[in-house]
Amino acid sequence: MTAQRKILVTSALPYANGQLHLGHMMEQIQTDIWVRFQKSMGHQCMYVCADDTHGTAVMLRAEKEGFTAEEWIGKMNADHKAASEGFLIAHDNYYSTHSDENRELSELIYNRLKANGHIKVKTIRQLYDPEKEIFLADRFVKGTCPKCKAEDQYGDACEVCSATYEANELINPKSAYTGATPVEKESEHYFFDLPQFQTMLQEWTRSGTLQTSVANKLAEWLDSGLQAWDISRDAPYFGFEIPGAPGKYFYVWLDAPIGYMASFQNLCARTEGLEFDDYWAKDADAELYHFIGKDIINFHALFWPAMLTSAEFKTPDGVFAHGYITVNGEKMSKSRGTFIMASTYLKHLSPESLRYYYAAKLGPGVEDIDLNLEDFVQRVNTDLVNKFVNIASRCAGFVKKAGGQLSDNIAEPELLNQVLAAKDTITGFYEQREYSKAVREIMALVDKANEYIQAKAPWSLAKEEGKEQEVLDICSMGIHLFRALTIYLGPILPALSDKARAFLNVESLNFTDVDNTLTGHSINKFKPLMTRIEMKQIEALLEESKEDAARESGKKAPEKTVSKENKKSAQANQSAEHIEFNDFTKVDLRIAKVISADHVEGADKLLQLQLDVGNGETRQVFSGIKSHYQPEDLMGKNLVLVYNLAPRKMRFGMSEGMVLAAGEGKDLWIMEGNGDIPPGTKIS
Ligand code: MSP
Ligand code: ZN
Repeated sequence: MTAQRKILVTSALPYANGQLHLGHMMEQIQTDIWVRFQKSMGHQCMYVCADDTHGTAVMLRAEKEGFTAEEWIGKMNADHKAASEGFLIAHDNYYSTHSDENRELSELIYNRLKANGHIKVKTIRQLYDPEKEIFLADRFVKGTCPKCKAEDQYGDACEVCSATYEANELINPKSAYTGATPVEKESEHYFFDLPQFQTMLQEWTRSGTLQTSVANKLAEWLDSGLQAWDISRDAPYFGFEIPGAPGKYFYVWLDAPIGYMASFQNLCARTEGLEFDDYWAKDADAELYHFIGKDIINFHALFWPAMLTSAEFKTPDGVFAHGYITVNGEKMSKSRGTFIMASTYLKHLSPESLRYYYAAKLGPGVEDIDLNLEDFVQRVNTDLVNKFVNIASRCAGFVKKAGGQLSDNIAEPELLNQVLAAKDTITGFYEQREYSKAVREIMALVDKANEYIQAKAPWSLAKEEGKEQEVLDICSMGIHLFRALTIYLGPILPALSDKARAFLNVESLNFTDVDNTLTGHSINKFKPLMTRIEMKQIEALLEESKEDAARESGKKAPEKTVSKENKKSAQANQSAEHIEFNDFTKVDLRIAKVISADHVEGADKLLQLQLDVGNGETRQVFSGIKSHYQPEDLMGKNLVLVYNLAPRKMRFGMSEGMVLAAGEGKDLWIMEGNGDIPPGTKIS
């Protein structure tokens, strides 16, 4: 047992100028998996985040939407919290940078920087929009590139020839707000004197806190010399006014990382025994880690540690940068519908599918990762539904039949030990953020578990006389394996893990519980843990994302490429020719055993069937076969059920699926499967 660590973890504070999308969620999922892993190991680990609410972008967005800045950030905060919760992100606190704690801490830190001689004041000339009466950040000026003469370029760099320049060098500059021609205006700005931290940063960036590739990149900058960092903005600005400097505001990037501290302080105020200083004091022994995207490395690995050092706080023990997500190999695109909002995703798909897919792809580096939607469907269905969940669903019924108590015997100690012994490798991977390696390792064990069950075929033994104990031993073994594997996947699949906890009838499924094998223990009824993803869910998601994007840009949804009529006839033609394999796999056909069949009062064509569809589930189906079959003809028969047909409300009750029959009218035969096939078996 290793000593309990005290760990504080953050992910970057999302801007309050828009909703969260699947890129933001990748970061939060990466962070959340790490935090849940640490908690599962028995460590004290806190995860704080907040909205980044200040700056010109938020101010203008609120104005455009017809809200005050405060109202707008309130709305965004609600959206962001809902998205995070929807993806099962277990923030210990989700706060806002527009808070008293953050104002106080920002002032405190600024005052310390100033007292320590690290703040300088300089007069600069900057472009100013005379109509809107606002200074223009580089990105808010557009004009002709002074080098290559390309039109419509930003004020800091040309996207055509990559030249960098000052905004006032642009030819024929225009304000992006009003189109007015900017004028140059002088203003006093406050600077954080970064060059004084050259040596400190050279050491700090090489001290093992950063990924090697990141440290190398920063070394280039550090070698070419640092510049003072402009930390003030002039009114009008949504933010905190600088103490002793009326009309001057902290630049959003000054108070944003302080928002990590503020969120934590807010948590401390309502958590018994949690002390701010234990985590942030210069000599604090708690560990501090920031998960961030590769685009904001300089803020977290240069400005931030320098500020913390000047203000006499502790610096981070790790800054973990990640890459961007792409969708189907390309940057998220509004027109292709691949710019997917978190809330839109959640309307169509389960959070754990994405958590699993991201985990299966994530490593500790800054490479981009691709969300390939077809691969996503395939991978989730194969790994989680067909393989992982299948271990439990194949074994649970037999244990239940034997009374629900797991055997006292371990049928295959060697296999169990092998799975339990993998714990160290797997926890090592989680710790190093090698999630894809952890997933690969776990899935290899899942395969072993399935091979074992397949080879023992308890469903066949169950039909033989006197094999009850053997069947129970095998299926108990399956449950032991499933339990260990659920613990291993727990940081990635927290909701599934909760359901498995209820099924296994245990208090917790943590890494610290791995060795407590459940011999002789009673388990509960098995309920389905995860459902398959259908390609049509993806199509609906992309369609709605296109609509989101269109609404966002105030335009109408892009014209569908085929009109409804055309589409219908195209489909009709296709059905006479070929369908894709994908289309076929959408139909989920399963063996269903007739438990009861009855006449229905008042219906002269229908029989009411109760079907055993495996996994302890029964379905009711009304079938129009009364003129061909008597109820007693059907009892105990194995029929073919369309398992995923949308349930239909009929006058007599719900019909939950459809049984297949050949022929029609007078000549009709119900389709039967071999009586040996266990109910619930998929037909493909
Ligand atoms: N507000 C700043 C962070 C301040 S931290 C003190 C910011 N906000 S953001 O909303 O633009 O981005 C939040 C995080 O999401 C960043 O770490 C960013 O890198 C990450 N991502 C935004 N789009 C992303 C992808 N497409 N893919 C992966 N992560 C992405 O930056
Ligand atoms: Zn150019």
